[in-house]
Amino acid sequence: MSLEVTPSGQACGATVQGVDLTRPLTAEEVGAIRAAWLQYHVLVFPDQPMSDDDLERFSLNFGPFGDDPFIAPIDGREHIIAVKRDADEKGPIFAEAWHTDWSFQDVPPAGTCLCAVTIPPEGGDTLFVNQHLALEKMPAELRRKLEGKRAIHSAAGAYAPDGFYGTEDSATRSMDIRPSDEANATMTHLIVRPHPETGQLGLYGCVGYIVGIEGITQEEANPLLAEMYAWQTREEFQFRHKWQPNMLVMWDNRSVLHSASGGYEGHARELHRTTIADKAA
Ligand code: SIN
Repeated sequence: MSLEVTPSGQACGATVQGVDLTRPLTAEEVGAIRAAWLQYHVLVFPDQPMSDDDLERFSLNFGPFGDDPFIAPIDGREHIIAVKRDADEKGPIFAEAWHTDWSFQDVPPAGTCLCAVTIPPEGGDTLFVNQHLALEKMPAELRRKLEGKRAIHSAAGAYAPDGFYGTEDSATRSMDIRPSDEANATMTHLIVRPHPETGQLGLYGCVGYIVGIEGITQEEANPLLAEMYAWQTREEFQFRHKWQPNMLVMWDNRSVLHSASGGYEGHARELHRTTIADKAA
């Protein structure tokens, strides 16, 4: 095995070469990729001309598929969604807001894999922000206010019928988003929590899917969540990923927030996405 892992030099992220993801991986390769994923939180695999079969097989090396609500899978696949935008689409960019995937679930996905299908000639970067580093550097006073508290997560603002990607918005998008009243459900998770595999403490989630904090009023929670957001998304904790054709990116939802970005007006962009389920605590 000749896996080469090159750190991005930014707050997280590494490029992985010396492995062919269009073929089944050995146990040794899977182990090395998992170790790098836990260390760098975001892995970029260039020069991987992967099919949907390859994407599914790669994801399943790291756990069963996650449960992906509110977005219909692509034709013929149960567990792949398309993150896409047509060249002439005018609405807001999908997922251009910091979040960690499906954090409103009881057991949110451990990881997400995003595989290039159509990459615009400019723009469309995916941004990541390291939540272990953000916690480590957090002022003690803010950390003290967050430790031991449970955030209330909900998909209502995004996927309820009157949400951002609700009935009106989804009618205009090339993505097959299915808003639902089920988005109004809530779930709580600790804000400062140990990573389920490494035990390293980090911040989990941010305002958006987080809609409140258990045990305190909304009037108290809102400024605290805003202060936390301003800290946890600082540029010094970020990694900017620039896409190339034939790239796969795999990230750890338990360690990073991510956000799509625009800057490719007039060009199409499409990526195929799977999620990797986490183990129930
Ligand atoms: C996502 O949040 O899964 C999409 C990220 C992107 O489009 O860059």
